[in-house]
Amino acid sequence: MVKKNVCVFISGYGSNLESLIKYSRDYKFPINIKLVVCNNIYAKGILHAKKNSIPYLIIDTKKRSYESKILKEMKKHKISLICLAGYMKIISKKFIQNFGKKIINIHPSLLPKFKGLNTFNRILKKREKKTGCTVHYVNEKLDNGQIILQKSFFIKKNDNEEILKKKTQYLEYKAFAEAVINIYRYN
Ligand code: GAR
Repeated sequence: MVKKNVCVFISGYGSNLESLIKYSRDYKFPINIKLVVCNNIYAKGILHAKKNSIPYLIIDTKKRSYESKILKEMKKHKISLICLAGYMKIISKKFIQNFGKKIINIHPSLLPKFKGLNTFNRILKKREKKTGCTVHYVNEKLDNGQIILQKSFFIKKNDNEEILKKKTQYLEYKAFAEAVINIYRYN
């Protein structure tokens, strides 16, 4: 199997990146991570790129040219899929068009419920019975593209924000890997 080259975008801790790196060590997993893009110079997630000798690009989103810088770097690494893994910045329509290939995102709720930030807090306030995570294709609207898959669990009485985050992220690692496998199942 010829593995596809993937770029992972992060902004923070990078536990989803770490998980994807682990999965990609398996020769049957359809991708290799060839580039990490990060918009936060202090992000812990960059360490995962460093530790695994994956090239990384730290971008300054205040500069107008940052998206073309990313596109140029992605061309160099022949990237065919972008995984947004906790990347807290909206991707422009122009960037999506210029890249012209698949972009997927992981979100810590059962979309279309609870798009945006502060997800766990809002889920608890709304007294939801169930929550989970969603992997979806990215379009120019926030947390909006076609859903690839979701994983869910029932919320327990004593679950607080921290516990919800832990339970959700545990499912995210599996969901992201399964979504990647689904995408390349037939090619
Ligand atoms: C993940 O839980 C992801 O679902 C969320 O950020 C976290 C990043 O964690 N993404 C969003 O909220 C995007 N709307 P990580 O840096 O440890 O992978």
